[in-house]
Amino acid sequence: MDLFEYQARDMFEAHGVPVLAGAIATTPEEARAAAERIGAASGGVTVVKAQVKTGGRGKAGGVKVARSADEAQAAAEQILGMDIKGHTVGTVMVAAGARIAEEYYFSILLDRANRSYLAMCSKEGGMEIEQLAVERPEALAKVPVDPNVGIDDAKAREIVEAAGFDAADQDAIAEVVKTLWTVYRDEDATLVEVNPLVKTEDGSIVALDGKVSLDENAGFRHPGHEALEDTSHTDPLEAAAKEKDLNYVKLDGSVGIIGNGAGLVMSTLDVVAYAGEEFGGQKPANFLDIGGGASAEVMANGLHIILSDPQVKSVFVNVFGGITSCDAVANGIVGALDALGDEEDRPLVVRLDGNNVEEGRRILSERNHPRVIIEETMDGAARKAAELAAAAKN
Ligand SMILES: Nc1ncnc2c1ncn2[C@@H]1O[C@H](COP(=O)(O)OP(=O)(O)O)[C@@H](O)[C@H]1O
Ligand SMILES: [Mg+2]
Repeated sequence: MDLFEYQARDMFEAHGVPVLAGAIATTPEEARAAAERIGAASGGVTVVKAQVKTGGRGKAGGVKVARSADEAQAAAEQILGMDIKGHTVGTVMVAAGARIAEEYYFSILLDRANRSYLAMCSKEGGMEIEQLAVERPEALAKVPVDPNVGIDDAKAREIVEAAGFDAADQDAIAEVVKTLWTVYRDEDATLVEVNPLVKTEDGSIVALDGKVSLDENAGFRHPGHEALEDTSHTDPLEAAAKEKDLNYVKLDGSVGIIGNGAGLVMSTLDVVAYAGEEFGGQKPANFLDIGGGASAEVMANGLHIILSDPQVKSVFVNVFGGITSCDAVANGIVGALDALGDEEDRPLVVRLDGNNVEEGRRILSERNHPRVIIEETMDGAARKAAELAAAAKN
């Protein structure tokens, strides 16, 4: 989960990372009021910043300096509603204006390839760090961080030295680097990035921008993280699925997919898209993994979510019985169809295989549901589902 800048700012502040005062606003009037309060401590100067989960806001005109509350209001008027790389700005942060002497770059991230963490640091921060990394990689220090040790005094020193900071600045920057490490570790982040980390004219080190990604797998350790989620953009079907603990991702096609196990579902998406080419480009309507222990109830919940999607014209249930036996899945399908009743008339192509498959197929054949089609192979079932989706469209 990626955080908005203002959420990262608050998180930084809670851990003792130096940040500037900031408040969010969703209307120009609110921005004005915030600028009156916040600007009082920074000579009336504030910066109005678009809160969207993408970089390059400055370049896109989403970061504006305001010298008065009037100007902050006008800036908010321009920025609210702006489109930045496909993200519409609904919120701005009004931050105290910093007098910047130098802009640096610092980040800690999960380095999957090396099974480690990586700290990156540069004296030349600001807006074009990706470009710097390509054009002058030597200006961006990359220091591996052992997850078992983290960034202690010695590692912090190694990082600031590798980045080539002046001796006079090293201690203060190392201190902030260590504090940012505590954010990364204690919040179970996969990315903490500060660009720019600045030295102000009075010599203090401040995080002016913040990007934080949290590891949702560790969410159970952080009851507070749930509140950071941005639900305004969540697809309603995905939200309903999450409530039922289903791994569901809405896609754009017409063939609803249910499978057990992420790998099987992924390959089901592929075979459906492939088979669908022959039928006017039918595509999968979703990803839904009902997991290894798929019970009748989970199957019913899954079917219900998929059939709530009006784009779905046919459903492909692809289950390989392992831990779950096929008879349980078949009972789940039958139960779900009964619960959905007669109004539901979209066809269901079922491919069962594995543990207790004969019994599963027997339950389905016996029920002889008019909308259930049993197919023996995955390819055959994908074809059938795509064909039925195409037929329904015409
Ligand atoms: N509070 C602030 N005071 C002064 N200048 C700022 C402030 N926040 C950002 N800036 C300037 O705006 C630039 C872009 O802002 P930033 O928050 O990094 O957005 P982005 O990375 O999305 O472009 C920064 O590099 C900095 O020069
Ligand atoms: Mg930035």
